Amino acid sequence: MRLDIISIFPEYFAPLDVSLIGKARERGTLDVRLHQLREWAHDVHKTVDDTPYGGGPGMVMKPEVWGEAIDTVAEGGSPRLIVPTPSGRPFDQELAQELAQEPWLLFACGRYEGIDSRVMAEYSSRMRVDEVSIGDYVLAGGEVAVLVMVEAVGRLLPGVLGNAQSAVDDSFAPGSMQNLVEGPVYTKPPVWRGHEVPAVLLSGHHGKVARWRRDEAIRRTVRNRPELAAALDPETLDKHDRKLLEELAFRLQPEDVAN
Ligand SMILES: C[S@@+](CC[C@H](N)C(=O)[O-])C[C@H]1O[C@@H](n2cnc3c(N)ncnc32)[C@H](O)[C@@H]1O
Repeated sequence: MRLDIISIFPEYFAPLDVSLIGKARERGTLDVRLHQLREWAHDVHKTVDDTPYGGGPGMVMKPEVWGEAIDTVAEGGSPRLIVPTPSGRPFDQELAQELAQEPWLLFACGRYEGIDSRVMAEYSSRMRVDEVSIGDYVLAGGEVAVLVMVEAVGRLLPGVLGNAQSAVDDSFAPGSMQNLVEGPVYTKPPVWRGHEVPAVLLSGHHGKVARWRRDEAIRRTVRNRPELAAALDPETLDKHDRKLLEELAFRLQPEDVAN
């Protein structure tokens, strides 16, 4: 997969040299190319921003600079353009899976009050453009958001994770665990500072271990993410799941139960 990242702080992306993503780059699974936006600013100060039309605080990133940058980086092709912004569609595991299927992603990192909206309008006619938010909070720039997305997408590419099953068992992974977060995990020793590993995990009984993991995932989802638990598809719940939800005094939406 090819990834281009345009930013006024390319040095922010040093973490992409290490760990899983660093190795994927060394192996050639990921071809990451960083670009300094100011290269496409032509005044002596390499200005990339200007005051907002309509007034108000802060500065807005100039369309001409972004236009030249994207034209150059995307020359001869049609990457999917991802623009991080708190006002975008939420980034989640489903979108990460979708982006992992793309051959080429181009990330445009905003700063200040963001990028002049005409840039997204201009490229929407030439390539797929997504404005994406990594959460309901405001960062100072798009760089950290892009690091989050690159790591979430990169670990889904074939051969990046040591054990491909890890991504299948993850929180939010599609399948039987959809809408459930992962339960607690343990390693050796069996007793640490008086805390014991749950006996079922030492039993070697795969069926019981799987049942226990699912129960714990349901308990944790109800406790930490009630909105996800409320969205559980009744079709994916067995009798045991329903009994557990009842014990936890968690009610599915009445219309879901009717289904
Ligand atoms: C200070 S923010 C601009 C916030 C903008 N005034 C607003 O309220 O929507 C500057 C840049 O940080 C990035 N950013 C901030 N929060 C983000 C989030 N939650 N998700 C993705 N990008 C974010 C975007 O690139 C944005 O253009």
